[in-house]
Amino acid sequence: MTVNTFAFDVYGTLVDTSGVVELLTDMVGEKAQQFSDNWRNKQLEYSFRRGLMKDYVKFSECTRQALDFTCQSVGQDLTTQQKNDLLSKYNSLPAFQDALEALSRLQSQGHHCFAFSNGDPESVDQVLRAAGIRNFFKAIISVDDVKTFKPNPEVYRYFLKQTGADANNTWLISSNPFDVLGGLNVGMKTAWVKRSDKMVFDPWDATPTITISTLTDFSHHLEELSR
Ligand code: LAC
Repeated sequence: MTVNTFAFDVYGTLVDTSGVVELLTDMVGEKAQQFSDNWRNKQLEYSFRRGLMKDYVKFSECTRQALDFTCQSVGQDLTTQQKNDLLSKYNSLPAFQDALEALSRLQSQGHHCFAFSNGDPESVDQVLRAAGIRNFFKAIISVDDVKTFKPNPEVYRYFLKQTGADANNTWLISSNPFDVLGGLNVGMKTAWVKRSDKMVFDPWDATPTITISTLTDFSHHLEELSR
């Protein structure tokens, strides 16, 4: 079987950013899911804007500032303690149910799995440990070394350089369409994890190499290919 290199996106792909909703429900009631979605979208928007402005800050800072923005935009006062609790929860988000099985299958097949994230190495290490999946990864490759964010092609090239992998033997696995497009842009193979029927892929000129609904589908897909 061909040994592949896998670049796993972290937030939203391996760990569930909606893991804050339970805690948020205690703070904002039924607005919790909407609040969580707005927070996540603003966090990503800040990373894109920081990248364009060449004004890098750590992803955790984008997360913190996006939380402040979200509180103001929905007119929801949270105390400093509540905000700190939410930010700590962000470092202990739960793994998606399918992550453990898929990663252990890929590892047992001898593939090389890396975590590849906008998050800084310490935060990613912490969140993967808390989710119980850190040991599946040979290393964490973070955009923090390049001081910009996905989907800047530099960060995908940095991944290839650090792992010594060829783009055409490397799979980027992500539920984030902008990330999948970023991987395709540098010649990587890509698996888009479409976790719900409602998710829409950007109607640009490129499409994911494969679209799967769970991470375990991905390991099955590779097994099929190698038969
Ligand atoms: C990451 C962001 C995109 O983990 O969620 O890189």
